[in-house]
Amino acid sequence: MSERRYSGAAKRWFGRKDGIALLIAAAFFLSGCDARKDATQSAMPVVQNAAEIPYIAHKDGHYALMVGGAPYLILGAQANNSSNYPAELSKVWPAVQMLGANTLEIPVAWEQIEPTEGKFDFSYVDTLLRQARRHQVHLVLLWFGTWKNTGPNYAPAWVKLDNKRFPRMIGAKGEKIYALSPLYPSTLDADRTAFVALMSHLKSADPQRTVLMMQVENETGTYGTVRDYSPAAQKLFGETVPQDLVEGLRKEPGTWKQVFGKDADESFHAWNIARFVDQVAKAGQAVYPLPMYVNAALRDPDNYQDPRTYAAGGPTWNVLDIWKIAAPSIFTAAPDIYGHTYEDVSGQIRRYHRPDNPLVVVEIGNAPSFARYFFAILGDQGLGFSPFGMDFTGYSNYPLGALTVDAKTIAPFALDYRIIGPMMRVWAKLSFDKPVWGVSEPDNHATQTIDLGRWTAKVEYQQWQFGFSTSPKDKSRTIPPGTENPSGGVLIARLGPDEFLVTGLHARVSFQLTATNSALRPIFDKVVEGHYDDQGKWVFERIWNGDETDYGLNFTSAPQVLHVKLATY
Ligand code: DGJ
Repeated sequence: MSERRYSGAAKRWFGRKDGIALLIAAAFFLSGCDARKDATQSAMPVVQNAAEIPYIAHKDGHYALMVGGAPYLILGAQANNSSNYPAELSKVWPAVQMLGANTLEIPVAWEQIEPTEGKFDFSYVDTLLRQARRHQVHLVLLWFGTWKNTGPNYAPAWVKLDNKRFPRMIGAKGEKIYALSPLYPSTLDADRTAFVALMSHLKSADPQRTVLMMQVENETGTYGTVRDYSPAAQKLFGETVPQDLVEGLRKEPGTWKQVFGKDADESFHAWNIARFVDQVAKAGQAVYPLPMYVNAALRDPDNYQDPRTYAAGGPTWNVLDIWKIAAPSIFTAAPDIYGHTYEDVSGQIRRYHRPDNPLVVVEIGNAPSFARYFFAILGDQGLGFSPFGMDFTGYSNYPLGALTVDAKTIAPFALDYRIIGPMMRVWAKLSFDKPVWGVSEPDNHATQTIDLGRWTAKVEYQQWQFGFSTSPKDKSRTIPPGTENPSGGVLIARLGPDEFLVTGLHARVSFQLTATNSALRPIFDKVVEGHYDDQGKWVFERIWNGDETDYGLNFTSAPQVLHVKLATY
């Protein structure tokens, strides 16, 4: 159906300025609210004294992070790398608050909890837990151990300076490599011991479950070489591939070269790093079973890239199958998204949202242009979204992220969270139970369509709220202020057969019947703006009609949530 016919139909249907009809419609809609209780009844406060340890639930291909007995959505903020000291925390909380984040992701460094071997200091962790509770914010702790951006800089001096006990990798030409080798039990033992000590401490120090999950290591893999070529590594590389792996991948047994061919080096390295990480995670979970994940330094989502130019062996998409078999204690590999094009970001979302890998974006650039990906990520059933470097310590990781971290930088992310924050529990439950969809504005502002089954949603950008930009009189008009750079996005969740929750920013959404040969014509039965209260109950505010619906549903920078009931005549 064309835009015009759609508009005509909408006008014929809604054109009467009939107050009584409107009242009847409102009463009818309110009486239908019970049907939505199902989706909302488990809403609960963000932070509570929950005895239950957070866990990952999985059902019909959908995942949820369960916190206090119900799905939870991480509206996160990741602090800068060196903000993990009590003296810095006062510069972290104001940014978390300004953002409206419900979860802070922050490092715990091996060097700070075990500066001397066997002597642990958890004073920072205790301060952090206390302050997080005071700020009503949950935590995700980032274990910076053997790997931090692939290197061992966060390992204590007694580890990183003792290359005899904790050997570094050797390159193909016999050269020294900066990264520690994943092959030595001494390194694994030391890292695992420290991580287990941390998990034991959390078990007793956090009955409130302030900490939701753990990141095990940070961006594993190696740049510049594809694997360890030390004599010990060479020997292992010549042996047969472990049975679990060949069976898991349904391959024929053989040596690494025989089984993986040209990918043998990278596969070998991925297996060994993933086995190392899994043993650290597994030992930690044996003490205190929080959900654990790894984060990935990314490679090109589609095109071939020489593995020496990315963090080879880390959980890049091309070796995720190996990681899945090698590291069953890790529930997901999370992409660290810093690509500056829509194509790249969309490609990474596609690669990391798999039936066996729930999407969690624990790092995304904090430049304003990244804020719009909130919609695509939540629409891909994302369990969390977290811009990186969100604190006021004065550090900026430009050009990956924003030039400066200030109120202006934070504003577009805060707007995302203002929409979903009040209904975080509702959204998380919908995402677990029902189909959800989301799109983000492409770099070229192109129109998108979303297949909702019987219905198709059309999403357009840079539209005025009133009228069609295709009509001649619009030629002299410019685009609406604030839409010059891509900043839009739309989220949709199914509430019933023809009923949807719809929200967004800087976007126009209209609906068509998917079957184009149908004699039926689409109309809005009702478009209701409202919000969810703190019990997760839908609260009616008003019905959108007339200008507000004649040209589709137009979202601006105002956080607005709609229940849309579609019908035909
Ligand atoms: C990805 C890492 O995981 C982060 O800790 C940080 O170093 C960013 N890159 C760059 O700021």
